[in-house]
Amino acid sequence: MLIKTISEVRAQIKEWKKEGFIVGLVPTMGALHEGHMSLIKKALSSCDKVVVSDFVNPIQFCPGEDLDKYPRTLDEDVKLCESNGVDIVFSPSPEEMYGNETPKTNDFLTYVVPPFFYVNKLCGKSRVGHFDGVCTVVNKLFNIVQPDYAFFGEKDAQQLIIIKKMVKDLNIPVEIVSCPIIREKSGLALSSRNKYLSDEDKKEALVLSKILNNIKTCYQNGVTDVKSLKETAFNYLNDKHELEYLEFADADNLEEKQQADNNTRVFIACKVGGVRLIDNILLNQ
Ligand code: PAJ
Repeated sequence: MLIKTISEVRAQIKEWKKEGFIVGLVPTMGALHEGHMSLIKKALSSCDKVVVSDFVNPIQFCPGEDLDKYPRTLDEDVKLCESNGVDIVFSPSPEEMYGNETPKTNDFLTYVVPPFFYVNKLCGKSRVGHFDGVCTVVNKLFNIVQPDYAFFGEKDAQQLIIIKKMVKDLNIPVEIVSCPIIREKSGLALSSRNKYLSDEDKKEALVLSKILNNIKTCYQNGVTDVKSLKETAFNYLNDKHELEYLEFADADNLEEKQQADNNTRVFIACKVGGVRLIDNILLNQ
């Protein structure tokens, strides 16, 4: 069932809570693919009722980013969700979420601001304010849906870690469930932004997973020095790739590593054909 207003979602949730149902929430920005579906299927298998939010959240896009051209496929998303047994697709307008003037700054909106230590690195460095927008909308969704469980993908590992931290710091009564990255057979991590890639760029985009897999193999062969591991990336990069970062950090608290260990996650962001792509890998997996 597609619902566009907060009040209708609240009314339905109230009924479910009376019945004692376990409620799961899968927050998305739509343009659903198999990556999203893996979260949705996990939610369906472990909760009585499942809400998928489908909302391109304007306040998490920075100036000059792809807010206007971000793929919007609501009709297909609803069909896909309904055929899989999702109970509610919640797709509010920006006005429903933020009032008549969608705020571009925090001058008029109460924001949830995650800790500087977690945001002054990786994606947070180039996407200033992005995680404020993410935490704010996810917190609002938690308040609207009041889920027992909420499902997030390791594809956006920094986001997942930041959300877990927000839930802990603000005592939000929800359990965060992390779900593994779903990839194409080629190794390319699924992403709504892959729609921007030409066939040629899609091949070039394999550079991200190739670099990560090679680093993991080197680590498993005994190389732990991060500097040496980073250098292996240059065998894969050419002038079609614009590397933004390649970083090694603790998988739980994002502390930077000089020596890799089993709890190290390697994070990469790289532009291919002008499209910014991210990927990551846990070294002991
Ligand atoms: P979106 O990019 O639509 O992703 C929604 C969820 O799907 C996120 O938890 C993301 O990590 C997960 N996901 C995307 N691709 C995946 C893949 N290949 N494998 C596994 N999981 C994958 O992330 C957002 O939206 C937004 O920031 C949101 C949390 C909804 C807040 O607006």
